[in-house]
Amino acid sequence: MKFFIDTANLEQIKEAHELGVLDGVTTNPSLMAKEGIKGHDNIMKHYVDICNISDGDVSAEVISTDFAGMVKEGEFLASLHPRIVVKIPMIKDGIKAIRYFSDKGIRTNCTLVFSPGQALLAAKAGASYVSPFIGRLDDISFDGIELIDQIVEIYANYAFNTEVLAASIRHTVHIIKCAEAGADVVTCPLNVILDLLKHPLTDSGLAKFLADAKK
Ligand code: E4P
Repeated sequence: MKFFIDTANLEQIKEAHELGVLDGVTTNPSLMAKEGIKGHDNIMKHYVDICNISDGDVSAEVISTDFAGMVKEGEFLASLHPRIVVKIPMIKDGIKAIRYFSDKGIRTNCTLVFSPGQALLAAKAGASYVSPFIGRLDDISFDGIELIDQIVEIYANYAFNTEVLAASIRHTVHIIKCAEAGADVVTCPLNVILDLLKHPLTDSGLAKFLADAKK
């Protein structure tokens, strides 16, 4: 399973990269705004900065909602760096844009996916990744992990190449459940990745080993 970090914060991306477990980065307009990155040129430069401090794919999201606008933006984003994946929202023109990019060999990440039907359409259109939002489904009392199970099963039935990129991850149980379900990728905030390290028995066991080593 690949680990992506879900942030536009360069320090956090560096920290995850230095840990040696990072396979890519996802961003979205809210995450860019959170870092105070404003204006077209600054945002484009920030995507290149992210590519330069990480390995693997970097998802950069279009903000147009019409086909022509998404194509123009997506082609520019893809030209910034070979590892940029164009993130496209799950809307009608988005599906058309995914098909257009797929036919041109430009990779895409279909975002804001909340149902198996949406995931099926994204795969049919040739998306490289599909991003089901687990946490946001849980927030409205739906089972986000069940959606991952369904998408993994559907894609396996038909051998779709689209990778299941579980997004909106809130805690380590989400990561483990995604791993059990066979998600190809999880994208998580840094604190959730680091939470995987934690166990009280590890801490107490290490403290005892270190104390005994002094004897
Ligand atoms: C990633 O691609 C998504 O944009 C992100 O995981 C959404 O997470 P959130 O629900 O915590 O905003």
